[in-house]
Amino acid sequence: MNRYEELVEMALEARKLAYAPYSKFKVGAALLGKNGVVYKGCNIENASYPATNCAERTAFFSAVSEGQKEFEAIAIVGGSEKVKDIEFCAPCGVCRQVMREFCNPEKFEIILARSKTDYKVFTLAELLPMSFGPDNLR
Ligand code: THU
Repeated sequence: MNRYEELVEMALEARKLAYAPYSKFKVGAALLGKNGVVYKGCNIENASYPATNCAERTAFFSAVSEGQKEFEAIAIVGGSEKVKDIEFCAPCGVCRQVMREFCNPEKFEIILARSKTDYKVFTLAELLPMSFGPDNLR
């Protein structure tokens, strides 16, 4: 199993814990820190819809709250709980911006997967070109 597949497997695991009673769209993420630790996250919905947190941000906030602020890659899997074969689930704009806060856009890898062996890899710069980040405020 290569390192992408390992991360996808953990994202699939994380997806099982998604709390999505309203959309039924379950998402899991596995974020690899430069310390070698994988931080998992799922989406957590709320009866007050805007209070919902995406899987990617759950993973990032978990990592940062544990003291890790440098990252290599994130694997993301998401789709309706009603379908067996999920499509690729790209991160929303807010999550891309959260990634931008902590990651090098040219190096950070975003792995979108439909299964352990069916995945595509992008850099953050590809998914969030000409971005605004911490450097702009220095
Ligand atoms: N969602 C994520 O967790 N990550 C994404 O990349 C896209 C959307 C969640 C938010 C909400 O719980 C559900 O998917 C439908 O938008």
